[in-house]
Amino acid sequence: MSSPAPAERKPVTLHRLRQMHEAGEKIAMLTAYDATFARLADEAGVDCLLIGDSLGMVVQGQPSTVPVTLDEMAYHTRCVVRGNRSAWVIADLPFASYQEGREQAMRSSAALMQAGAHMVKLEGGGWTAETVHFLTERGVPVCAHLGLTPQSVHALGGYRIQGRDEAGAAMLRRHATELAQAGAAMMVLELMPSSVAAQVQADNPGLMTIGIGAGKGTAGQVLVCYDMLRLTRGRLPRFARDFTAEGGSAEDALRRYVAAVKDGSFPDEALHGY
Ligand code: KIV
Repeated sequence: MSSPAPAERKPVTLHRLRQMHEAGEKIAMLTAYDATFARLADEAGVDCLLIGDSLGMVVQGQPSTVPVTLDEMAYHTRCVVRGNRSAWVIADLPFASYQEGREQAMRSSAALMQAGAHMVKLEGGGWTAETVHFLTERGVPVCAHLGLTPQSVHALGGYRIQGRDEAGAAMLRRHATELAQAGAAMMVLELMPSSVAAQVQADNPGLMTIGIGAGKGTAGQVLVCYDMLRLTRGRLPRFARDFTAEGGSAEDALRRYVAAVKDGSFPDEALHGY
């Protein structure tokens, strides 16, 4: 089963995403930070737009995502929502907007949802389970984020692959199950061996896992849009395929990305390689 042509598609809802997942249709997610790109990505059939706090690095030129504020996330969420027609919109809770506990997380989620987000994403393992439960019980759909969690870059000692040894892999699996049981509907799995990401998906069949540098075994894929369009200068992630190589436009690259996620030809296991 595949999604209807974007021009006629109904708004993508959580229910629709679950149906896609159950039917084995891969979910195509991409970051977006502004109205123009959101519109192009929506028209190309991207299922989910993520207002990622990666905007701190690619839009603001910061060295990491840590300096991004809640007000900045709400601003970019409003921009994306104005350009979007039908994609499901997820906004990142930035650093220090949820770490103090569930009430703080609820206030921050309210700011993003009142800016137009349909779901919030937060980074971290089992310690976030109580917050995930609190938010989901109060009508806030939650996407968790495990593996390389960029807001913890200083604690992790850099942008390193996670879960490489047996203990690390077991910990990721345990945290994923705790978060799924707490109510997370979706989970970004970033920079980990494909076998670990595939195990997380197998452990939690109803959870929609979305991989980035985590191999093919997830329910969907996400990329930072600037990496996908080859606009990033400096070191590109090795898993970021050049979707602009064959076509001449951003629209074409977007359509190729969606098609490659849907038919399973992206990511390339050879480029992933860990
Ligand atoms: O901030 C972001 O763009 C993200 C993606 C890399 C998943 O969290």
